[in-house]
Amino acid sequence: MAKFILNGESMTADVESDTPLLWVIRDELDMTGTKFGCGIGTCGACTVHVGGRATRSCITPVSSVEGAEITTIEGLSEKDDHPLQISWKNLQVPQCGYCQSGQIMQAAALLKDIPKPTDKDIDAVMGGNLCRCMTYVRIRSAIHEAAN
Ligand code: FES
Repeated sequence: MAKFILNGESMTADVESDTPLLWVIRDELDMTGTKFGCGIGTCGACTVHVGGRATRSCITPVSSVEGAEITTIEGLSEKDDHPLQISWKNLQVPQCGYCQSGQIMQAAALLKDIPKPTDKDIDAVMGGNLCRCMTYVRIRSAIHEAAN
């Protein structure tokens, strides 16, 4: 059994304590915006916020987030109007789109820590979020636009 706050709502999931948070979010709670890419913490597709920090949910046992506040892409804003969601649309960042919710969640954590990031800041924080369509240049531009 696991209890936590997901996108502002109390949630209980009847799962084994070592179940990865990603599968609890997707399979138990039917929130499918968070994606499965590698399953070993190296691609960033599964990025969510735990207590405001970017976290790879595929390697996070649900027992480690007991009582924590978790935010997924579905809870990032009320009407898909977070500055990053707006700039992502303006600049048509996604190609296949698969990695993009993880990219946006990682970028949102970046902007919380560094409201006006440089290219170097962006590359340092976003470098671990992989995109097979190579949308990196647009991702960087969208982060700058959202930061303005
Ligand atoms: Fe979690 Fe790749 S699916 S980092």
